[in-house]
Amino acid sequence: MSEHWTLPSLKEAKKRNRTQVQFSREEYELDEKYQSLGQHKRYIIHTYGCQANERDSETIAGLLEAMGFELSTSDEEADIILLNTCTIRENAVNKVYGQIGNLKHLKQRNPELIIGICGCMTQEEVVVKTILETYHQVDLIFGTHNIHRLPELVHQTMFSKERTVEVFSKEGDIIENLPAHRFGNYKAWINIMYGCDKFCTYCIVPYTRGKERSRLTEDILKEIEEVKADGYQEITLLGQNVNAYGKDLGIDDGFGKLLEEVAKTGIPRIRFTTSHPWDFTEKMLEVIAQYDNIMPYIHLPLQSGNNDILKLMGRRYTVEEYTEIYLKLKELMPNCAFSTDIIVGFPNETDEQFEDTLRMVDYFQFDNVYTFIFSSREGTPAARMEDNVSMETKKERLRILNEHTILHAYQKNLAYKDKVVKVLVDGLSKKNKDVYSGYTDTQKLVNFTGHNIKEGQIIDVRITEPKSYFLLGEAV
Ligand code: SAH
Ligand code: SF4
Ligand code: F3S
Repeated sequence: MSEHWTLPSLKEAKKRNRTQVQFSREEYELDEKYQSLGQHKRYIIHTYGCQANERDSETIAGLLEAMGFELSTSDEEADIILLNTCTIRENAVNKVYGQIGNLKHLKQRNPELIIGICGCMTQEEVVVKTILETYHQVDLIFGTHNIHRLPELVHQTMFSKERTVEVFSKEGDIIENLPAHRFGNYKAWINIMYGCDKFCTYCIVPYTRGKERSRLTEDILKEIEEVKADGYQEITLLGQNVNAYGKDLGIDDGFGKLLEEVAKTGIPRIRFTTSHPWDFTEKMLEVIAQYDNIMPYIHLPLQSGNNDILKLMGRRYTVEEYTEIYLKLKELMPNCAFSTDIIVGFPNETDEQFEDTLRMVDYFQFDNVYTFIFSSREGTPAARMEDNVSMETKKERLRILNEHTILHAYQKNLAYKDKVVKVLVDGLSKKNKDVYSGYTDTQKLVNFTGHNIKEGQIIDVRITEPKSYFLLGEAV
């Protein structure tokens, strides 16, 4: 072990303290000694996991470009390859290890190549240990709390003889004004808060992302005004639980108030994710229903349809409370679309408990359901629960659940037949060159035909043929 390394500790990451987060709000200035580090060099970033990582990758790209690096379209042509990783489930982790393995030959061909690993995986000591012991092609390891230190870390990696490892277990200050290269042209991610204090018993995120910290409202609004001026049509407000926005700043009903301010900016489309069913307030409901530029699509994770399992998961709401929020939203916005997350095979989940989930999924008829088999994450309380459910049973439950959810998705889509809907045009469809694609306000993917259609416009499209996971249509 090198004395220069800063290694992570999940035990430290679990601690929560009351010290007020500091804000660093000066204009960003890159130290002169890093400004030409990337001259004539290229970078590529592979991003795994959730939108928090997507947005972090944009900051990483912004920092690398400030150093003179240019975006590469392939690993082969890159001088620095970064994997921004996710550790939410075991298969996410395995994917990354596979990818690190794939990169070995590039390193052998070009010893100057820098391979770096960052994101949620590197916040775990077992991952850093594995990489250091097994994957010698990796030169740089950093975490989710020190992205702003990237220029220094890249410099160190280039000029030092040993590998660079710096992962902080404790979250730091909120640093505003870091440069960003946004990868969307019309849709922008906007962080409103970082971290998570919910500690659902299965989940690793509170350990990899630190405590809940809200950005100041004025900084969020400033960023939104900037993207609006740049022509962005849609923003998605990001947080692991956006409903908790402002709690740490001592603001009551923080998210409802923020949402209202954001709606008043007049940006055409506003989305947010994720809204935990716990902490849903009247004010939030009111604002969501009142402003037309807040999109009628809510991702509201249920996780399980059984109260005992919800309790074991530490979700802090009951099926009845969830239903109440769902019904209120439906009443206020009858055309609102809903999606959810469901975990099957939580430790000791019985057939009856699984059937409760199926029953609730059939009741809510979600537009879209993200379904997962429980994955044990080291360091979380659920990882210490003994489990009598076989993997075979878990897989079977997932299969049955998916059968139900795909049927609901299709039925929801059928209701769109012959309707004219507003679509924000993303561009030409990836698969078919004569077809455009975009999303409705309810977050349905539409592939449609038309003439002289420009990306980034919101246009009317008539739906001709609904499918299970997308809609076919023609521009009107
Ligand atoms: N903050 C969001 C969830 C982020 S993680 C929320 O609370 O809703 C996205 C989803 O991954 C979760 O909703 C959950 O369904 C799933 N997930 C998280 N940890 C998991 C685990 N250990 N095993 C299986 N699925 C998990
Ligand atoms: Fe994980 Fe729960 Fe936090 Fe969501 S709210 S990130 S599931 S701990
Ligand atoms: Fe994955 Fe980290 Fe997001 S674990 S889901 S990338 S917060």
